[in-house]
Amino acid sequence: MTEAGFSVTVPATTANLGPGFDHLGLALSLKMTIEVSSAAQWHIQYQDKEYASLPTDETNLIVQTIQQVASRYGQVVAPHKLVVYSDIPLGKGLGSSATAIAAGIEIASELAELHLSPQDKLRIGSELEGHADNITAALLGGITVSYFTEEQMEVLTFPAPPIGVVIMVPPVALKTEASRGLLPEQVTHKTAIQGSAAGSLMTAAIAQADWVTAGRMMERDIFHEPYRKIGFPEFDEIRLACKEIGAYGMTISGAGPSLFIAVPPETEQQVAALLDQRFPHYQAIALQPAEQGAYISK
Ligand code: HSE
Repeated sequence: MTEAGFSVTVPATTANLGPGFDHLGLALSLKMTIEVSSAAQWHIQYQDKEYASLPTDETNLIVQTIQQVASRYGQVVAPHKLVVYSDIPLGKGLGSSATAIAAGIEIASELAELHLSPQDKLRIGSELEGHADNITAALLGGITVSYFTEEQMEVLTFPAPPIGVVIMVPPVALKTEASRGLLPEQVTHKTAIQGSAAGSLMTAAIAQADWVTAGRMMERDIFHEPYRKIGFPEFDEIRLACKEIGAYGMTISGAGPSLFIAVPPETEQQVAALLDQRFPHYQAIALQPAEQGAYISK
């Protein structure tokens, strides 16, 4: 890095956990690290070939975020070089765009000396993302529960929960907008009450570290799973297999196309190996929840 260089690290996230649609996020033990140094032009250098198709100039999402944040405070950030290391699967429902946006907010705050508060970052990130689940977990780590409207934003956090995580990643990526396009404009009052009850009970169970109940509620979503699951090969078979193996619960990771499975702590390697062998369409990866959200190193 050149003088005044620094780096920002942001975790991957999974959103929703089933009925926590658009308001519940969990940080995971995959991460993106971006080294920032001054340069004559914006240049983004991705070190992982999965990211090779992304723009490497000022049209890049990280740079666009930096400039959008700075412009809110009447500033323009001078060009920099960004070297990006990431083990987060791209476009696979692990919050890769929220991670990039969180990184852009942190970089803008640093380079434009904005001294943004955590609340500022959460509000700006949620406005840029359109929902609060991934971005709050990317910024704060652990589990985040958010209420986000134009007028009001409230976020509570839980520490990283005592579970192991298995993510089943299919070979194809899926754009969040396409996945959101599958959702209905309306659900009935009665159905919404069921979904809300599942979300409330799941969150209460998480607060009590009762992952058996949380896992059951994770599988009671009515807001998105019924409309999205059709796109997941072997969805019902995988859910059944997860039960047989002793997982707490299985659901869609964010908008998909990956699946999120909560398992008893320290069983994630074993469960991932079993699922990987049984469902070869997916790559099963063993992870843990991440305590730490975005941070800057100098
Ligand atoms: N809550 C979002 C969704 C997460 O499920 O569409 C993906 O951005």
